Amino acid sequence: MRIALRVNGVDVEADCWEGESLLFALREKLGYPGSKNACEQGECGSCSVLLDGTLVCACLVLAAQADGHEVTTVEGLSADGELHPVQQAFVEAGAVQCGFCTPGLVVATADLLARAENPTDDEIREALSGNLCRCTGYAKILDAVRLAAARR
Ligand code: FES
Ligand code: FES
Repeated sequence: MRIALRVNGVDVEADCWEGESLLFALREKLGYPGSKNACEQGECGSCSVLLDGTLVCACLVLAAQADGHEVTTVEGLSADGELHPVQQAFVEAGAVQCGFCTPGLVVATADLLARAENPTDDEIREALSGNLCRCTGYAKILDAVRLAAARR
C-alpha cells in the first residue's frame, strides 16, 4: 500500500506492506534515520516521535496508521542548522554517551517542555520514564532537562 504523510513539514509518500512499522518506514524508506531502533517492542523509547503532536513509539505505530497524518522526528526539531535548545542542553550537560537513546530522549524532553514550563524532577522522571539509557545513569540527562527548562 502507498502512504502519504507529512514528516518534519515535508509531504512524503512511501510504499509499505500492511504490517510495516512507522519506525521502519521513517528509517528505511523515507530517509529519517534519527529515530533509533533498539527494542522494537515499545520498551526503550529510542524511536520516540511526535504523531500529530502526541509522543509515540514509532515502532508500535503502523506506517499505515500515519497515512494522512503529521510526524515530527528528531531531525525536525532543529532549524536553520542550529541545534534545538534541548539538543544543545544535552551536549552541554554531557548527557550523551553512546547516543543511542539520545534522539528519543530529546524528542520526549521537547514534548515535556512544550507542555510544562518548569517541570519538577518528579515530572521530568515521569515524562522520561519510557526512555531507557544504558550508559549515563540518568543524572546528566536530568541536568540537561533542567538546563533546557531554565533557559526558556
Ligand atoms: S525501538 Fe521503539 S520503544 Fe524501543
Ligand atoms: S547514552 Fe548510551 S544508551 Fe543512553
